[in-house]
Amino acid sequence: MRKDLFNNCVVELGEYILFALKEKTAKLAPELTARNRAPISLAMGAPTAHPPKIVIDRLKELLDEPGIHTYSTPKGEIELRQAISKYMKRRFNVEVDAENEVFSLIGSKEGLANLVRAITTPCNGDIILVPDPIYASYWEFIKCAGAIGHPIPLTKENNYMPDMESVWATVDKPEKVKAMVINYPNNPLGAVATREYIRSVVEFCKRKDILLISDAAYSELYFDDAIKPFSVFEIEGAKDIAVEFFSFSKPYALTGWRLGWVCGNEEVVKRFGKAKSTVDNGHFKAMQLACAELLNSKEGDEYIARENLNYKRKQAFLVDGFRKLGYPLENVPAATFYLWLPIPPRYDCSAKFCQELLEKSGIVTVPGSSYGKCGEGFFRVSYVCSEDQMQTVLDRFKEDGFQY
Ligand SMILES: Cc1ncc(COP(=O)(O)O)c(C=O)c1O
Repeated sequence: MRKDLFNNCVVELGEYILFALKEKTAKLAPELTARNRAPISLAMGAPTAHPPKIVIDRLKELLDEPGIHTYSTPKGEIELRQAISKYMKRRFNVEVDAENEVFSLIGSKEGLANLVRAITTPCNGDIILVPDPIYASYWEFIKCAGAIGHPIPLTKENNYMPDMESVWATVDKPEKVKAMVINYPNNPLGAVATREYIRSVVEFCKRKDILLISDAAYSELYFDDAIKPFSVFEIEGAKDIAVEFFSFSKPYALTGWRLGWVCGNEEVVKRFGKAKSTVDNGHFKAMQLACAELLNSKEGDEYIARENLNYKRKQAFLVDGFRKLGYPLENVPAATFYLWLPIPPRYDCSAKFCQELLEKSGIVTVPGSSYGKCGEGFFRVSYVCSEDQMQTVLDRFKEDGFQY
């Protein structure tokens, strides 16, 4: 095959960390199992509970509906868009117009990647300001679009809410900045933001004339009503400059269904939709209709409340276990299903620590460096597995010498 077949952006892509970990784990599994260290994954951010029964039952019924198996539209079925509009009103008390301000997505990852492609010109030096650390895919899909991801450092010192004018001062060519991303509750930190901070971010984006992209994939995963995540559109005037991304994946354990939505600024939603419509024809109608019913159902709300209680209990279990192993855990996150832990001081690299943990103990965790430069020195664990598995993980940490 000719050497210049692929564009430079694609050539530079590494393998997505979670897929690479999965492959490596599968390769090591027989040997680990033989040593009584069968792999246990704390890597994936995918709930393992069964999804709400109501959505499965409805999907099954819909499979026999006439016309259900044909093309949908990229924008999404009107029933889904209306349900989203109703949900945004009911949950956040914000208005989004089902006709012009909502677009369905094949998972929020697809939507975010397509939005970056729609607003940047490849290899033109266009910049997206991205929280660091953040969901590892951002760095990859920004690179793949031929754009540049400039980090917004989220640190303990800035309370994970950095002053944006100071960040702006670190950008070489501010005129190239097209957009900034916020992600609260944050993956991997679990950090949340105050309304005052988001208000200042909205004002900042208006001042700099850039798009605000709010990634709200974890908006339903919280353990404390005092920090109940809010929508960016609760801030007055945000719709002038912002779009927000939501997902069915995390709250309803529907990661495999690949359904999400973007809503907000009409012009951005429209143009994004046009660009996206050149590469996909929308999601399977039956899934859209089943999820439309789930979104505002009593069963859906009860499911989320129950799962959040489960996560809270699992979090307490794991926090206690890691503290006993000497890991300093000062601020326990009040949202998401992740813990963000410092690597033991004797290690100088998170990738090396996670590799040893996998190869010696069969425990799969994600090195902090995958989430951005600020993630070095940390590792992420998810607590979506069973308490029995978590106990085994803690036992192996102790037996195999992975105390802090
Ligand atoms: C912060 C964040 N945004 C978006 C996504 C993508 O989720 P999905 O494509 O399943 O909607 C993830 C997945 O882990 C995430 O952590």
